[in-house]
Amino acid sequence: MSVDYNQKIPNNVELAGDKALQRALEHWQPGFLNWWGEMGPDGSHEFDVYLRTAISVDQAGWANFGYVKMPDYRWGIFLNPAKVGRKIGFGAHRGEPAWQEVPGEYRSNLRRIIVTQGDTEPASVEQQRHLGLTCPSLYDLRNLFQVNVEEGRHLWAMVYLLHRFFGRDGREEAQALLERRSGDANHPRILSAFNEKTPDWLAFFMFTYFTDRDGKFQLLALAESAFDPLARTTRFMLTEEGHHMFVGRNGVRRIIERTCEVMARERMYEPERLRSLGVIDLPTIQRYLNFHFSVTIDLFGSELSSNVATFYTTGLKGRYFEDKINDDHVLKDASYPILQALDGGLIRREAPALNALNERLRDDFIRDTIAGVDAWNKAIQKFGIEFALRVPHKAFNRQIGTLAGCKFSPEGQLLGESQWLAGCREWLPTPGDRAFVQSLMGRVIEPGKFAHWIAPPSAGINGRPVDFEYVRFN
Ligand SMILES: [Fe+2]
Ligand SMILES: [Fe+2]
Repeated sequence: MSVDYNQKIPNNVELAGDKALQRALEHWQPGFLNWWGEMGPDGSHEFDVYLRTAISVDQAGWANFGYVKMPDYRWGIFLNPAKVGRKIGFGAHRGEPAWQEVPGEYRSNLRRIIVTQGDTEPASVEQQRHLGLTCPSLYDLRNLFQVNVEEGRHLWAMVYLLHRFFGRDGREEAQALLERRSGDANHPRILSAFNEKTPDWLAFFMFTYFTDRDGKFQLLALAESAFDPLARTTRFMLTEEGHHMFVGRNGVRRIIERTCEVMARERMYEPERLRSLGVIDLPTIQRYLNFHFSVTIDLFGSELSSNVATFYTTGLKGRYFEDKINDDHVLKDASYPILQALDGGLIRREAPALNALNERLRDDFIRDTIAGVDAWNKAIQKFGIEFALRVPHKAFNRQIGTLAGCKFSPEGQLLGESQWLAGCREWLPTPGDRAFVQSLMGRVIEPGKFAHWIAPPSAGINGRPVDFEYVRFN
């Protein structure tokens, strides 16, 4: 499964054996490069960046590290190897051989799933395009660019499926993926979290911690798909996604470490005074966390959805680690608890499990995020500081689903409008918070130097030292 780099489009899908497809993708490629030129990382085209590029999809040594100018990055098409005799693991087709082609009756649903996933990939590049101008270090700049080029590759992954399996409709959708723009009033990206701004590096780290993790859960559900090419491509995307979440987890932890170091040294807890010392106070970090968590869990969709039931029953999208779940994998008579606002509070009620699959995936996601937030709290405890970050209640600040019409505190108390407005300043980033964080953002590009508000990482990338010249400017 090594990748053929002698081709215009590197791939491990024997693209050269399908001339029509190769031509179609080579036709899409200049549009992609134009999009990268226009919407990719701002002002970075001449930089030599120490990036990893996939050279094979084998577990051992899939990545090659070296200096690359980002517009010359070898974006390509990589699928995990096919599992011989793979069977469908859930739904009405359970036990039948996985599909190598798209069944006609599921075509439009599958296309919709692929387009929705594909749209998030260029969206995040657009959201992050100005961050390079205020990087806290070369190490962080390189990590940002690595995330960006891989999101570009994830777009390629979905575009390959559209071109290869969906004919003319697929080609049109692939084109439209280059035309929507994050935050654009007339042509926005499909999902609302991908139209939010990522204006500073605290937001970037929160985004990669929470929102790239949403990506992980969506990809894991698609990796179960009966449509084998989708399962294989998402499996490879997941290996890249791991680094994105690492960037977020460690980025937030390093900010916390710097803040706590100053708090412990100065014996000082007041946010305003800490701010005057140039570090981000923990309550502000909590408000950013609340925002990114709540916006991200909306991405899982409504608690109850007939679409998601259809996707499952027809074998298009499975559950998180479907094969590790001990049930009938059909879920016809099963139930799952969901939350509803009623009589001044929240009630739990059982709903048909098939319709509640979004909620189930959201709950899987929440468990996973809490584990990482606990690790951040350990970093705070190490300094002897009594403060714990908390993941808000899942009813907090929701815009989608049955909880959207009501206001809840981060503890899950139902609030009146005035209570909500009064509490908001404590719970979500205020314009003042954002302006303060923005005021810290400056460009640090001397090797081994870090902005004051963030601690250095404990190790460099690919065994390189922390003060390695991860980006060279020309
Ligand atoms: Fe991605
Ligand atoms: Fe990602």
